[in-house]
This record gives sequence, C-alpha cells and structure tokens, in this order.
Amino acid sequence: MRKLILYATLALALFGLPFIAYTAEEYVGDKKCKACHIKIHKKWLTLGHSTAFESLKPGVKPEVKKKANLDPQKDYTADASCIECHTTGNDVTRPGVQCEACHAPGKGYTQPTIMNKKKWKADPDKQRKLALEAGLVIAPDEAKCRTCHNEKSPTFKPFDFKARYEEIKHKK
Ligand code: HEC
Ligand code: HEC
Ligand code: HEC
Ligand code: HEC
Repeated sequence: MRKLILYATLALALFGLPFIAYTAEEYVGDKKCKACHIKIHKKWLTLGHSTAFESLKPGVKPEVKKKANLDPQKDYTADASCIECHTTGNDVTRPGVQCEACHAPGKGYTQPTIMNKKKWKADPDKQRKLALEAGLVIAPDEAKCRTCHNEKSPTFKPFDFKARYEEIKHKK
C-alpha cells in the first residue's frame, strides 16, 4: 500500500505538473504536423506565432522595440532571455511558437499506429485515448498560454484568454 502511494505521488510529480521539461528528441517539428494537418498549418503560417523568431532579428519591428526599451538594431536571436518564449522548447533549431509548443512534443503521439486516418476513422475514441496516453494535449488551456503571455515579456499586453484564443483558434 505504501509503495502504491509512493508510485502515485511519483506519477503525479512526473506527469501532473503544468511545466513538464521535455527532451529535444521528443520533438518532431511543425513540418511533420503539416503533412497531415495542411489547412491548420496554413492558418498558423498567417499568425505571429509562426514568425515569433523573426521578431528577435535586428531591424524587425523597430517601433515596438523602442517602446519596450529594447534596442531595435540588436540581434536578440541568441539571447536566452528571449528565446525561451520565441522558440519551441527553448531551442533555436525550432524557431517560433510551433504546434508542439501548445500540443506537447509529438514523437509519441504522431506514430502511425496512433495518428492514422484509417484507424482514427474506424475507432476515434480508441485512437484519441492512445494519443492522450502518448502525451498529446488536445486543447491547451489558459495556464499554458500564460507560460509565455506574462509580465516577463518586454512587450507584455494584458492577456485576455477568451479574446486572444479566438484569434488563433483552428478547427478542422
Ligand atoms: C500521419 C498523419 C498525422 C501526423 C504526422 C500528425 N497528425 Fe494529428 N491527427 C491525424 C489524424 C488522422 C487525426 C484524427 C482527427 C483528424 O482527422 O484531425 C489527428 C488528430 C489530431 C488532433 C486532435 C485530436 C482529437 O481529439 O480530435 C491534434 C490536436 C493533432 N492531431 C495534433 C497534431 C500535431 C501537433 C502534430 C505534429 C506534432 C500532428 N498532429 C501530426 C494525423 C496526423
Ligand atoms: C511558447 C510561448 C507561447 C505560448 C505557449 C503561447 N504564445 Fe501566443 N505568442 C507568443 C509570442 C512570442 C508571440 C509574439 C509573436 C511575434 O509577433 O513575435 C505571441 C503572439 C500571440 C498572439 C498574437 C498573434 C498575431 O498573429 O499577432 C495571440 C492572439 C496569441 N499569442 C495567443 C495565444 C494563446 C491563446 C495561447 C494559448 C492557447 C498562446 N498564445 C500560447 C508566445 C506564446
Ligand atoms: C515570457 C515570455 C517572453 C519573453 C521572455 C520575451 N518575449 Fe517577446 N513576446 C512574448 C509574447 C507573449 C509576445 C506577444 C505580445 C502579446 O501579444 O501580448 C511577444 C512579442 C514580442 C515582439 C513583437 C510585438 C509586436 O507587437 O509585434 C517583439 C519584437 C518581442 N516580443 C521581442 C522580445 C525580445 C527582444 C525579448 C528578449 C529581450 C523577448 N521578446 C522576450 C513573450 C516573451
Ligand atoms: C498557441 C497554441 C497553439 C498552437 C501553436 C497550435 N495549436 Fe492546435 N489547438 C490549440 C487549441 C487551444 C485548440 C483547441 C481548439 C478548440 O477546441 O477550439 C487546438 C486544436 C487543434 C486540433 C483539433 C482541431 C479540432 O477540429 O478539434 C488540431 C488537429 C490541431 N490543433 C493541430 C495543430 C497543428 C498541426 C498546429 C501547428 C501548425 C497547431 N495545432 C498549433 C492551440 C494551438
């Protein structure tokens, strides 16, 4: 019994916390998602999330930077205090706020045995359950957004979840 409680506590510590640290190998990148979610990917390309890394380059958005006391001519693309929110998983090899920044790293849940059109059509409940078990976050909540949309951002605007969610939402 005591062992059981120990395992339960461990599981909660590992999987129950909002800030889970992932390893680089768990990410697949937005191009992988694009292969099957073309329409959603197309919409994402029109949003600031897809170009968030560009904003860190010198000469980009000079007015916004001046207002926020940032140097418009400075290159911030290697600045650790910027890339944590302007990349996916705090890594410049995954620039911008990609699919996996919100839906969690995809190596597990994008396996062909899970995200598979035929199988999903045949038994959506079973496939969804497998995807969730492999780490998929279907609808990231306000707390997830606020890991980046907070006062640590030099250009922070008060974050109204409902309104801002409407701007980025992508149904099939
Ligand atoms: C091999 C094709 C394939 C790849 C690659 C893929 N998906 Fe999917 N995904 C599907 C299919 C099929 C479904 C079933 C529902 C649908 O058609 O959208 C699905 C469903 C989903 C759902 C919704 C689950 C639900 O409850 O309806 C999310 C969220 C999702 N995928 C995110 C992603 C993300 C993020 C990536 C990249 C990391 C990705 N997918 C890569 C094929 C794929
Ligand atoms: C990994 C960090 C991160 C997460 C998580 C995140 N955002 Fe963002 N978001 C950003 C950054 C950075 C920008 C600014 C992009 C730019 O223009 O450089 C942004 C911009 C936006 C914008 C403006 C879009 C545009 O086209 O100009 C909206 C709306 C938004 N986010 C909503 C959300 C919502 C809603 C969530 C949660 C469901 C969320 N964000 C999660 C980092 C994040
Ligand atoms: C805590 C997360 C976070 C950090 C750290 C962060 N940003 Fe951002 N950044 C954001 C978010 C979120 C937005 C979107 C603002 C919004 O819509 O609320 C944003 C937007 C921007 C924009 C575009 C604003 C616009 O209106 O188009 C620029 C430029 C920018 N950030 C530069 C930087 C620079 C340079 C650094 C490092 C000195 C930095 N950011 C650090 C989260 C962050
Ligand atoms: C800023 C966070 C964020 C990013 C980035 C993001 N998503 Fe989503 N996604 C969401 C939210 C929130 C929902 C829930 C939508 C709803 O229920 O209205 C969602 C829903 C979905 C669904 C289910 C749609 C449905 O019809 O139910 C799929 C599939 C999906 N996202 C795929 C992707 C792919 C592929 C990318 C990258 C091109 C991506 N998402 C990028 C936040 C995000």
